[in-house]
Amino acid sequence: VENAPTPFDMIGEENLYRLIDAFYRRVANHPNLAPIFPDDLTETVRKQKQFMTQFLGGPPLYTSEHGHPMLRARHMPFEITETRAKAWLSCMDKAMDEVELTGSFRDFFFARLVQTAQHMINTDENQD
Ligand code: HEM
Repeated sequence: VENAPTPFDMIGEENLYRLIDAFYRRVANHPNLAPIFPDDLTETVRKQKQFMTQFLGGPPLYTSEHGHPMLRARHMPFEITETRAKAWLSCMDKAMDEVELTGSFRDFFFARLVQTAQHMINTDENQD
């Protein structure tokens, strides 16, 4: 039998990549996010395309090259506050507007990103 279409099949590689490009253009210009990202986002964008592909049920591109994502551990070098998580999600929300991602697929995808973003928070807001 055929496998059911994955969320990755539903959005398609081209639209997913356009979304990620639009997202990192916003991250690069966000005053609270840009300082913790590298100046050159080429490699960050490439890894995120690999990760999001597998996150949405497509081929395991990220794991093939980098091993288990261990996302929370990989984010530990960066101070991720609730404010930064909200900023990340806001950049994604606007990127979804820009590429005109709509409907129940958008709601499903965004809800999964909200969950993951909350899981990345590793620094109390008033710590410093
Ligand atoms: C890498 C910040 C949430 C997936 C990174 C990096 C930073 C960062 C600074 C390192 C970039 C680099 O060195 O190239 C944040 C902040 C978040 C957040 C502030 C707010 C909550 C997320 C979420 C996801 C995600 C929700 C997935 C759904 C990734 C991936 C990488 C990454 C796949 C590459 C890891 C690697 O080096 O292999 N993030 N992130 N991040 N982030 Fe996030």
